[in-house]
Amino acid sequence: MPAMDVATPPASKDAAAQAATLLRELGIPHQINFPLASATWYKVGGAAAALATPTSIEQLAALLQHTSRQAIPTFILGSGANLLVRDEGVPGIVIQLSDPCFKTLTQKGDSLVVGAGYDLAKLVLDAAKLGLAGLECLAGIPASVGGAVRMNAGGAFGDISQSVHRVRVMSIKGFVHNLTAVEAGFSYRRTRIVEPVVLEVELRLTPGDPEALRERVKEIMAYKKRTQPMAENSAGCAFKNPVIPQDSSAPANASAGRLIDLAGLKGFRIGGAEVSPVHANFVTTQQGATASDVLAVMQHAEQIVLEKFGVRLEREVVVWPA
Ligand code: EPU
Repeated sequence: MPAMDVATPPASKDAAAQAATLLRELGIPHQINFPLASATWYKVGGAAAALATPTSIEQLAALLQHTSRQAIPTFILGSGANLLVRDEGVPGIVIQLSDPCFKTLTQKGDSLVVGAGYDLAKLVLDAAKLGLAGLECLAGIPASVGGAVRMNAGGAFGDISQSVHRVRVMSIKGFVHNLTAVEAGFSYRRTRIVEPVVLEVELRLTPGDPEALRERVKEIMAYKKRTQPMAENSAGCAFKNPVIPQDSSAPANASAGRLIDLAGLKGFRIGGAEVSPVHANFVTTQQGATASDVLAVMQHAEQIVLEKFGVRLEREVVVWPA
């Protein structure tokens, strides 16, 4: 993906100085005034006061204890694949679980215990190679495992909740505990996990033929390449698929993409952001785009779909700050 030449507004000096002092004191690797555009798939948006990459669970716990005590806003960054950072940036510490200690993978019979920082696309292929079925439906979804669990990532072929047995989380005060799948409260692209950090997940899979699993992964990837603008900068689907009200003039079960398409918005553009002509639920960004352009395109799509069909679209993309 091409790097974009967009000026990044710096985070506020106070926030950056406070974050720098804390992170230095705790000995946590970090970068001050980190341009988040480079860390998201949209490639737009401002800077974080700091990006912190703790190197142990203890460091992460200490960081959360201090940020909660000092009321410093904290944000957990996965792979930035479903994230829109506003142009003014993030007034706090963004934490990324990119250290190898958060990227572990352990097989226990038909289960895999996976760290939150593990790459989902790699996990899908690893599971197929190990002859473990259940994750093929996640092929082609860019995510960290932690992000995928928190958002219950999935698509037309299934979602991650179908395989989750247990989720290990860290509370705002740095305490670690396990949630059962029921406690995690999975529903469509949503969980009820209130703790800020997903640390690890245990996935219960079923034995399968590695060759057949790899074929299924390939099929799903091919479907996505055919129907989605995979080569462009985007955050995947911008909106969740809605429940269509009975009195709506929209076709029954119409997806968000279909509704935006029927509203004639394919190719609709503001600044450097566009409703993809390939799949209308994707907003893509070009050189020079800003986060405001993306938000304006999404707001326009929401308004037109509401006017035409009486359907309120809900964003799937996470916006920072909310
Ligand atoms: N359609 C249109 N016009 C469009 C796009 C789609 O008419 O511009 C029609 C299609 O022809 C099809 C129907 O809408 O009849 C559904 O489209 P598709 O099969 O592409 O599925 P989707 O519901 O739009 C979901 C997930 C995707 C996932 C795909 C495939 C949601 C919101 N989206 O898309 O997930 O990749 O299934 O598994 O659940 C994402 O989460 O970021 C994402 C892209």
